[in-house]
Amino acid sequence: MQLTNEQLKDKIDELKKKLSVTVVAHFYQRDEVFEIGDITGDSLELATRTRDDDSEFVLFCGVGFMGQSVKVLSPHKRVVMPRIACCAMAKMIDGKAYDTAVKVLNDAGIENDNILPITYINSDAEVKARVGEMGGLVCTSSNAKKIITTALQEGKKILFVPDRCLGQNIANEMGLKSCVIGDGKDLNQSDIICYDGFCSVHQLFTVEDIEFYRKKYPDILIAVHPECDPAVCQASDFVGSTSQLIKYIADLDPEQKVAVGTEFNMVNRLREKNTYVLSSTKPECPTMNETTLLDVYNTLKAIDDGNPINEIQVDEKTQKWAKIALERMMAL
Ligand code: 13P
Ligand code: SF4
Repeated sequence: MQLTNEQLKDKIDELKKKLSVTVVAHFYQRDEVFEIGDITGDSLELATRTRDDDSEFVLFCGVGFMGQSVKVLSPHKRVVMPRIACCAMAKMIDGKAYDTAVKVLNDAGIENDNILPITYINSDAEVKARVGEMGGLVCTSSNAKKIITTALQEGKKILFVPDRCLGQNIANEMGLKSCVIGDGKDLNQSDIICYDGFCSVHQLFTVEDIEFYRKKYPDILIAVHPECDPAVCQASDFVGSTSQLIKYIADLDPEQKVAVGTEFNMVNRLREKNTYVLSSTKPECPTMNETTLLDVYNTLKAIDDGNPINEIQVDEKTQKWAKIALERMMAL
């Protein structure tokens, strides 16, 4: 017989009391999974708060690179995921593709000594390690501007991977020149050279969606995540990371209408009224949505049976350099 969500929640609670496990859930998780999280937040909050947690196991409800970041920062912890769900953007680059991108810069006359690589946290540990070994660091959408401001003080070209939108949006905000590898622009004329990766969920929001809402509700505000296309960000009233969007919307007058361009699950639980999803489609992140309460229960049960499943492993060298890249970010 299939268990209801309420029955599953009771069973999960029982196992959580018995075991040394912290359940961690990203804002984009389904509501019922998000609700059972001991630690919830955006990718930066999850990486930092789990580091200070002392349970033996971290059960991470999110996508692969996030669980990996916890393991990299706290190698002594056992990190398990109910689903090894992949972020589509993170999968657009691996170590080999990263090396090819560096070679494109070298071929344009930009030597490694003059490159400071920055990887968005939405990348695998292998890419973070490559970046760490080259003297670079990680950023998230919450701190990208700060990281880039500090990095520019070294007077080097920034190679920004994998999200071309975040890289270009920060460059636009800071009045810097940017290009995307392969777009035909002169790399030597750019302060920030972006890899050609993107988030397929955030590509769903368009300038036409913004025009539609502005026409329908002339006083509406438009708030979007910086993984959206630069044209969409430029046409919006506010651009911010997951946590920044939550704060921006919480501070609005309850009567103020706002249309939000980010993942559906999060937008849906932001505010009771006057909040719209900036799309005619349902912009769900398919892999974030894979994790169910039944998966969480099965993962806890496997720990209880002494046979944990879906445990994250990162080899020693990758762990060392990826940690350095993450810690450089945290130090700022
Ligand atoms: P945050 O860093 O804002 O949590 O975003 C992660 C993400 O995957 C956005 O699509
Ligand atoms: Fe990755 Fe986009 Fe999903 Fe975020 S919303 S986890 S960037 S695919």
